[in-house]
Amino acid sequence: MADLRDKTIVVTGASSGIGAATARACAAAGMDLVLAARRRDRLEAVAAEVERLGRRAEIVEGDVAEPGHAARLLHAAERAFGGFHAVFANAGYGLEREMLATPLDEMRRMFEVNFFCGTDLLQHAAQRLLDAKRPGHLLMCSSCVAKFTLPRHGAYSATKAAQAMVARSMRSELAEHGVEVSTVHPVTTTTEFFEVAAGDERHHLRDGVPPHVPPLFVQRPERIADAVVRCLRRPRAEVWTSHTVRLVAGAFTAFPFLQEWVMRGEARKYRERDARS
Ligand SMILES: NC(=O)c1ccc[n+]([C@@H]2O[C@H](COP(=O)([O-])OP(=O)(O)OC[C@H]3O[C@@H](n4cnc5c(N)ncnc54)[C@H](OP(=O)(O)O)[C@@H]3O)[C@@H](O)[C@H]2O)c1
Repeated sequence: MADLRDKTIVVTGASSGIGAATARACAAAGMDLVLAARRRDRLEAVAAEVERLGRRAEIVEGDVAEPGHAARLLHAAERAFGGFHAVFANAGYGLEREMLATPLDEMRRMFEVNFFCGTDLLQHAAQRLLDAKRPGHLLMCSSCVAKFTLPRHGAYSATKAAQAMVARSMRSELAEHGVEVSTVHPVTTTTEFFEVAAGDERHHLRDGVPPHVPPLFVQRPERIADAVVRCLRRPRAEVWTSHTVRLVAGAFTAFPFLQEWVMRGEARKYRERDARS
């Protein structure tokens, strides 16, 4: 089991939700943090919590899509802490929209943030670890919907599936160098995610999540954060916090008609919701 004490992790999307919770859990496990996102005030609040837990935090404010952002994060880790052990490419957002209402430009922007920027960070981090001949751990925040999709989530699911594929490939390519690669597959989590994804339709949310999601599948970000820390200690390919959804994802792959049946039910719920509003 890896000892995380005095090791450094770079976390993108650290200003809220899963990223902020992971930063706190990593600090509690003895790690120093590079915290990245666009909202500086929120990063400062998370940094204060990290410092209350006795660890150090360095803030890098900015959009992940700015040129050179990944290099800036890793440079900050090297300057402040002499290097890094792990990165968590977690920054991302969703879009709840039918495919015909999703212009390609919006899809390209989501692919840029979720897929290309996450991949860029993993590639840069891997190269630095290889150059330094040091082991390390690269984590990518994907989703359960990397394995199946839902109505109005096609474009978002595509970004999450793409993330999972490149990370899985990197895992096999980097294993011989002692660099671990893992993907994280959260289910519905109570963060700001659904407010962002729903946009003008956010009034449909209940307690911040779509009302038709069964409570069994709704989790708090701390649950994902604890699972990420367990994975840092004992690296594995995929992090899941719902065995049920993991099994459902497997069943959908083996029996596509099951997914079809569930998707039609979900599409009907959306139509009923539209009719009510
Ligand atoms: N919540 C869920 O149900 C769920 C389920 C599966 C997977 N996920 C994944 O979990 C990850 C974290 O999401 P969350 O649920 O914690 O949502 P969240 O609370 O909305 O957090 C998203 C984070 O990403 C950052 N971010 C977004 N766009 C950015 C950009 N262009 N540049 C820099 N930072 C950016 C945000 O920071 P700023 O706004 O301050 O920049 C924020 O810190 C995402 O990759 C999401 O796809 C979430």
